[in-house]
Amino acid sequence: MGALDDDLAHALEIAYRTPDMVAQRAAVLDLSDPLPGEDALDVGCGNGALACELAARIGPSGSVTGVDPSPAMLALAADSVPPDGGATVRVRAGDASGLPFPDASFDVLTAVQVYEYVPDMPGALAEAHRVLRAGGRLLVLDTDWDSLVWHSSDVGRMQRILTAWDEHVADPHLPRRLGRLLHDAGFTVTRREVLPMLNVGHDPNTLSAGVIDFVSGFVPGRAGVTEADVTAWRADLESLGPDYFFSLNRYLFLAVR
Ligand SMILES: C[S@@+](CC[C@H](N)C(=O)[O-])C[C@H]1O[C@@H](n2cnc3c(N)ncnc32)[C@H](O)[C@@H]1O
Repeated sequence: MGALDDDLAHALEIAYRTPDMVAQRAAVLDLSDPLPGEDALDVGCGNGALACELAARIGPSGSVTGVDPSPAMLALAADSVPPDGGATVRVRAGDASGLPFPDASFDVLTAVQVYEYVPDMPGALAEAHRVLRAGGRLLVLDTDWDSLVWHSSDVGRMQRILTAWDEHVADPHLPRRLGRLLHDAGFTVTRREVLPMLNVGHDPNTLSAGVIDFVSGFVPGRAGVTEADVTAWRADLESLGPDYFFSLNRYLFLAVR
């Protein structure tokens, strides 16, 4: 993915406040288990929401750094990091494939819905391995988009839209390759978990409402999808009432350096 534009960054900001995403961050915190005094790095930090939650666990004796290559995301993150009391949180420009830090700088590294966008995964995991200290933890969360079950009255149109949507990431099926990639990068995988998401109503306060906006902004002009297709698709989803059904799986991997 290139840098998100301002509209998508804004849509992401709204999506991050939904109960689905709050629960996702809680699962990431539970599994990565940041401890007081540790140094944490959140790769692809987006709006900085997870970085702030990591900092609340780690406290003032440690540090949290967020890196992201997107200027729009970095602007959002700068807004969400408190100007005071957040002295342990820093955000800066950086790419997963070339982390701007010395070797052995961090105890814990999180990459949440980031590696699926990265074309060179061996390179990105080599970087994660390099900047972690011995015994450090890497928490990865990504979606396998084959896990998506999304009801529509027009199955053919939905399929074309989802085929186009697959192009928004470098690998829409990364989780099934992650075990091997982590092993080859020198990590030991200690936990694998699945976090299912389920929305059964067309509700703005859900993950799927955000996904509708991201998809709508991305798919026109790809895989034969037109603006008119997207307008009709959105109208259909809004009209489904009790037939609305959206579900997908996030996969979490905890690995030790
Ligand atoms: C779906 S958002 C996830 C944001 C955040 N990690 C979260 O879930 O709370 C994907 C993020 O990855 C960032 N990103 C994309 N390619 C990246 C790369 N090569 N290195 C680091 N971050 C990247 C994007 O700018 C964006 O902020």
